[in-house]
Amino acid sequence: MDVLVVDHPLCRSRLTTLRDQRTDNAAFRGALRELTTMLVYEACRDAALTEIDVQTPVATTTGARLSNPPLLVPVLRAGLGMVEQAQALIPEAQMCFVGLARDEDSHLPVPYLEALPPDLSARSVFVLDPMLATGGSMVHTVDLLAARGAVDITAVCVVSAPEGLAALERAAPTVRVVTAVVDTGLNDDAFIVPGLGDAGDRQFGPR
Ligand code: PRP
Repeated sequence: MDVLVVDHPLCRSRLTTLRDQRTDNAAFRGALRELTTMLVYEACRDAALTEIDVQTPVATTTGARLSNPPLLVPVLRAGLGMVEQAQALIPEAQMCFVGLARDEDSHLPVPYLEALPPDLSARSVFVLDPMLATGGSMVHTVDLLAARGAVDITAVCVVSAPEGLAALERAAPTVRVVTAVVDTGLNDDAFIVPGLGDAGDRQFGPR
């Protein structure tokens, strides 16, 4: 599985803001937006381009547009905080939604929303979720996408645990992961250590 860790000084700085327990909801959302810009920028690095002619005020030259802008799929709730900046970078991207809440005892994802197009066979898909912990939520989402024919899937995650990466690799080895960091591991409550806590709660307050 292709895992790109975007290890840039500005990513490290925003990640530190996200990790800091003193960061309030608004500052957390701000740092997440800025970090999302960097992750999505890197996720697009090898995107296919279609060349077009463009007329400048001076001459005609060759320009380019994304050949196949990705479908953005934020995983609710926490993925909502990545939407605005992903759309700002890729304004032509369309968006669909998956809603999952992890059960506190079993740590398994409980689906509550699945709003996806029926045919994704020709689409590139970016799944947006700040956390890859056990990997259960991402594996569930990737399964939904694959059942609709998606073969070009990128998981854009802020913090990833080795356990989640391993689970994703077992379930869907062709998925690409773009992340700001791979942390140490999971604790007994399946929280990422050191992590940043619960990204949904830290943006929106406790459920
Ligand atoms: C968090 C996070 C991921 C999931 C990761 O969501 O945003 O979706 O847990 O955990 P996993 O890899 O072990 O599945 P949560 O279920 O807390 O819901 P929320 O986004 O509504 O807070």
